[in-house]
Formats: sequence, C-alpha cells, structure tokens
Amino acid sequence: MIQMAEIKLSDKEIAAATEVLRSGGLRQGKECEAFEHEFSQKVGSKFALTNSSGTAALQLAYSTFLEKGDEVLIPSFSFIATASMVSLSGGTPIFCDINPQSFLMCLKDAEKKITAKTKAIGPVHLFGNACDVDEVIAFAKLHKLKIVWDAAQAHGARYKGKDIGSFGDFVCYSFYPSKNMFVGEGGMTCCGLEHDFEKMRDFRSHGQTGKYYHTSIGLNARMTDVEAAIGREQLKRLDCMLEVRRRNAEIYNQAFEKLEGLTPQKKSSNVEHAYHLYCVAIDENLFGCDRDTLASMLHESGVLTGIHYPRGLHQQPVYQEKYGITSLPITEWISQNILALPIHHGISQKDASHIIDSVFRIHERVKRKQ
Ligand SMILES: Cc1ncc(COP(=O)(O)O)c(C=O)c1O
Repeated sequence: MIQMAEIKLSDKEIAAATEVLRSGGLRQGKECEAFEHEFSQKVGSKFALTNSSGTAALQLAYSTFLEKGDEVLIPSFSFIATASMVSLSGGTPIFCDINPQSFLMCLKDAEKKITAKTKAIGPVHLFGNACDVDEVIAFAKLHKLKIVWDAAQAHGARYKGKDIGSFGDFVCYSFYPSKNMFVGEGGMTCCGLEHDFEKMRDFRSHGQTGKYYHTSIGLNARMTDVEAAIGREQLKRLDCMLEVRRRNAEIYNQAFEKLEGLTPQKKSSNVEHAYHLYCVAIDENLFGCDRDTLASMLHESGVLTGIHYPRGLHQQPVYQEKYGITSLPITEWISQNILALPIHHGISQKDASHIIDSVFRIHERVKRKQ
C-alpha cells in the first residue's frame, strides 16, 4: 500500500538522538539553541525559537500582542490550530473564504471583514503553497495589522526566491511526523524583532526570568534536546526531501494537465511550492465520479489518499456553537471535493506512475459507465 507519509528517521538522525540520550540531556538545552541558530540561518530570519508543537508556535506568537476581544483574519480552510490559538489567546478568529484555485486565503473577502477590532492577519501557506507575500504585507500595512504566518506545512517554500521564513512578523512551523521535516512533536517560531523573541522565550517557560523568579504568566512549551538533535540532522536533508516532493509534483502536473475534472492546487509563478501535500479538486460532473468514490477506488489499487480538510473551520461544531452558522461557499465546495495524493520523499517515480495510471484507469472506468 502506498502511504501518505514516510515517517522514518535516518541513521544519522538516530545516532544524533542516541548521543543526546546517552548524555542524559533530556530537556531543552544546547541542542535546542543550536537548532534555533541553524534554522534561522537556513530560512533567513533574525530569530527562531524552538517549542513543543506547531500549535505552541502559533500560541507563542499571539501571546506577544493579542488582547481580549481582538479580531484576527484567518482562512477558514486550514487545520484547527490556525483558529484555536487565536481563541485560546483571547482573540476572535474571523473566518475568510479562499481562492478556488490556490486554496489560499482570499484577501478580497478578508477586506470586507475588517473592523475597528481587527488586530492581525493569520495567513496559511497551505499544503506548502506560499501565499502572495507582497500582497499580504501590503494589506497588513494598509490596515495596520500584525502578520502571523502559519507555515506548519511549508518548510522550504519560497516566494520571489526568498524563503517564507524570512518574512516577519511571525512565521510558525510544525515538526509533526507527517510534515516536510519532523522531530516527533515540535515547533519553531521565527520573528524579526528581539523584543518579540524575548517575550516568546519567557512565555515558553512560565515567564521565568531567574531561578524560580517569574515576571509574567506562561506555560511549558519547550522542545527537548533529543528532538532538536533530530531536527538539526533533518535540516541537513530538507532540500533533498523537497527535491523529491517537487519532482513528484512535476510528474503529476504534467500527467494531469489534460485530465478533465481533476484540478491540482495552483501555485503562482513567484512561488516555489514545498508540496507538503499534493491536493486536487475533483469536479464530479467532469471527472465521472465524486472525490470519495475516487478515494475508495484508489485504495483498492493500493494507494492511500487524504482529505484535508473535510469541512471549513467555520463549520466546526465548536465555532458554529460560538458564532452560529455562516457560509463561505468556496471553502465549502473545496472541502467536499478535495483529495490529497501521496507525494512525500519516499514516493519513487515508479510509485508516482502507478498512482497516475490508477487515476486514469478509474477515470476511464467511471466515464464508460456514464
Ligand atoms: C496548518 C497547520 N497549522 C498548525 C498545525 C499545528 O501543528 P502541530 O500539530 O505540530 O501542533 C498544523 C498541524 O497539522 C497545521 O497543518
């Protein structure tokens, strides 16, 4: 069965983790510091702070400025943490619709939702597809908003030749095992200002500024040195892993170009996509069957697929209960019709060919039945 992720550590990663384990350095220490330094160098950000998850990475960013009642514009088509960390920080997520081709936040819709309470925008580089960074920065400047980029899925994505980690105000990564690079549970928040870095560093560790001396309220959102040691090694092979993802995407793009009813996520020409996921939208009328039927037929051909995400965040029970039922038509259509095909660094060209052949065979079969 072809899986959706390859979660295997290399010998070097295992050796690095073992060395830390042998040393007894189980908590946050020198490895975390080194990982922060190397990660910030790699993405071109002034500061980087290790933490315990992509969720914590977002929470740390919001903790530096968000106040009760502040509103944050976010795309409704994302993972729950994009919204819930705004809520947990006392703010209100304002759900915006997406572009039907790029599946990224629609700034035109966001503009309609600006109020006197809008404090920030939280765009998501979804599936590794970078947002139009210049447009978002101009939008934020015009409306005097902070930007918290959710880059949980976008390690290595580039915009106009620059790594997406180099654009302020905050860039938040996850190292969860299915991601482009992984350490177990872990996250990183990049930022451009020392003041924000220091605030997040304190918040990460109970606001402790001296031994049992606490000057603010915080949590324990630290990474361990074992994870950081794995992360440092992963960082060295990130480019190779991305190369395979990009090669596979190219193979899919070429094959699917003329396939009716199956439309891959669109990236702009300014963007080097990091292909955490390769997602396509299935138009049932043109393709010949719906997304769920295609997924189960692919399963029969030995190909696992994923649905990211089956509903918009505004449709999650927790938010419908809070804010009532609202409608974001593009998010809702995409969530009903999107399908992710395996693209990770463990997918060989032979696997990619098998996946393509399977999709075409299914298409022909269902079309013949129509
Ligand atoms: C877009 C997005 N944001 C945030 C997160 C949270 O990351 P983590 O699972 O490491 O907490 C994820 C993880 O899936 C994600 O996909």
